[in-house]
Amino acid sequence: MFSLGVVLLFVLHLSVFLGIFHCKSVEDVKRPNIVIIMADDLGSHDLSLSGCNEIMTPNIDALGYQGIIFNRHYTQSVCGPSRSALLTGKYPIHTGQQHSVILPDEPRGLPLDEKILPQYLKEAGYKTHIVGKWHLGYARKTFTPTERGFDSHTGFLGGATSYFNYTYWFNILGYNYPPGFDFYRNHEVYNEIIGQYATDVLTEEATKLIRDHDPLKDPFFLYLAHGTPHASNSNAPLEAIPEDLETVAHINDPDRRTYAAMVKALDRSVGKVVTALKEKQMLENTIILFFSDNGAPTIGLYSNTGTNYPLRGQKQSPWEGALRGFAAIWSTLFLQSHYVSNHLIHITDWLPTFAHVAGISSYESKKLDGNNIWSTLLYNKPPSRNEILHNINPITGYTSYYYDKWKYINGTTADGLYDMWLGYRIFEDSPESSSYENVIMQSDVWKALNPFAKRILRTTDVNELRRKTEIKCHRQKDAFNTCNPLKAPCLFHLEADPCEMINLADVQPGRVIEMQKRIREFERTMVPPANIPSDPNANPDFNDGLWTWWLDNQDSKVQN
Ligand SMILES: *[C@@H]1O[C@H](CO)[C@@H](O)[C@H](O)[C@H]1NC(C)=O
Ligand SMILES: *[C@@H]1O[C@H](CO)[C@@H](O)[C@H](O)[C@H]1NC(C)=O
Repeated sequence: MFSLGVVLLFVLHLSVFLGIFHCKSVEDVKRPNIVIIMADDLGSHDLSLSGCNEIMTPNIDALGYQGIIFNRHYTQSVCGPSRSALLTGKYPIHTGQQHSVILPDEPRGLPLDEKILPQYLKEAGYKTHIVGKWHLGYARKTFTPTERGFDSHTGFLGGATSYFNYTYWFNILGYNYPPGFDFYRNHEVYNEIIGQYATDVLTEEATKLIRDHDPLKDPFFLYLAHGTPHASNSNAPLEAIPEDLETVAHINDPDRRTYAAMVKALDRSVGKVVTALKEKQMLENTIILFFSDNGAPTIGLYSNTGTNYPLRGQKQSPWEGALRGFAAIWSTLFLQSHYVSNHLIHITDWLPTFAHVAGISSYESKKLDGNNIWSTLLYNKPPSRNEILHNINPITGYTSYYYDKWKYINGTTADGLYDMWLGYRIFEDSPESSSYENVIMQSDVWKALNPFAKRILRTTDVNELRRKTEIKCHRQKDAFNTCNPLKAPCLFHLEADPCEMINLADVQPGRVIEMQKRIREFERTMVPPANIPSDPNANPDFNDGLWTWWLDNQDSKVQN
């Protein structure tokens, strides 16, 4: 017989034991605020974090050094599909978004039966805000953010708008519409900001939302989807303000200089948002995530001089230059911080992760392609993911797929125009780069987050972390065998060959067949691409000079 004392002791032990493992679970902490800051078409090699000495991005870098830097964060290859994957937790092949983007005059939106991230978070009591770019359809009001779980939207509905006058000129790909205005506060045209710089306007809106929020009452979700450094229009694509241009005067090429100034504005934005969270004393309970929707377009449509070098390819291609980027994430909740992680993360993983931290479990019954990576964030536990279906695009005719260190590519985009190692440049070093560590440690983000650091960080730590983000191509002179995915499938061992230089398809035919089998399985679950013909009634000239919910406008005209 056990004595009562032993039983009590056992119960006590058990509760201590459970307590240890329970102390950081979601139920115990207040639902954390979630802030996602997304860049648009930012080159993966254009942050000083990744070794670029040309453009100093101390705030973004500091976010990573104070938190976790995911060095293998995968997105989709273009804007719209990346946004759909982020907000649905699904691969674009499962939502019909696998080909191109929703065009300005295309009468469709992200399917309405998809439950999106703000809808989950709203269910958990969050106040939900999007500031900036939507790009998931606006032909009807029902497609727009405030009808889909967001309490507010200040920003633009399409894929781009110019940085001072907020018009978008759709005169590419054989289209020839007049410029139309695209900037809204919820469903109201918001034109008071004309003449002010878009990146600063969005930052001001975001920090105002933070200042106006009552953190004692509700948890807060902010999706700050910057338009920068995406080219705004095909005629005058890159736009910056003089103050930012001054900080990058060491760059000779005027386009690259303007791009760099746009990235400086982005970095400043990250600094201001984090400072606003600090001033509101919200940092203790906030998760802050930063990444770019895809790699930079170095050449071709909307090229912005951005570089993903040494990765192969660029935006809108099946290669790593389109898909692989950095994510920096920070929170006091993480038990480990200040490290560079090589874990495989996909953009679809954020929805289940954030739904989980919000205490929502209904996502578990949905067929998501993302995994909850909360224990990776808390404990640096390896995620369960070992594959990514980057895309199957039956219209362009390409497939890009990763499994267990191997990458398979068949077919490509733009007739192979983007299949090279683009964006090599000799960086014109910023004068500040010689005191890089000090610049980082004097940034707003560092100052705000360093009081929460898990250990004392010195300049040597900053240096070491920065070195760990470097991508080594392991060039082998003789083994150089590029491939032509228009002729036959290619296979790369990404761990040994992250720059996709040595095609091993002929050497590993069995592996190619295995991967093709798995791709066939994905094909069976694919829904058809949702692309539909353009509707010329979207023309801004028929809609008071606006890109707007033209189908609703037409219906009401018919009724009158
Ligand atoms: C708006 O800005 C763009 C540059 O992005 C410029 O090309 C265009 O002429 C401007 N439109 C107006 C109406 O000022
Ligand atoms: C590879 O892509 C080409 C071009 O899209 C296509 O015709 C071919 O069937 C694909 N091969 C395989 C094995 O999927």
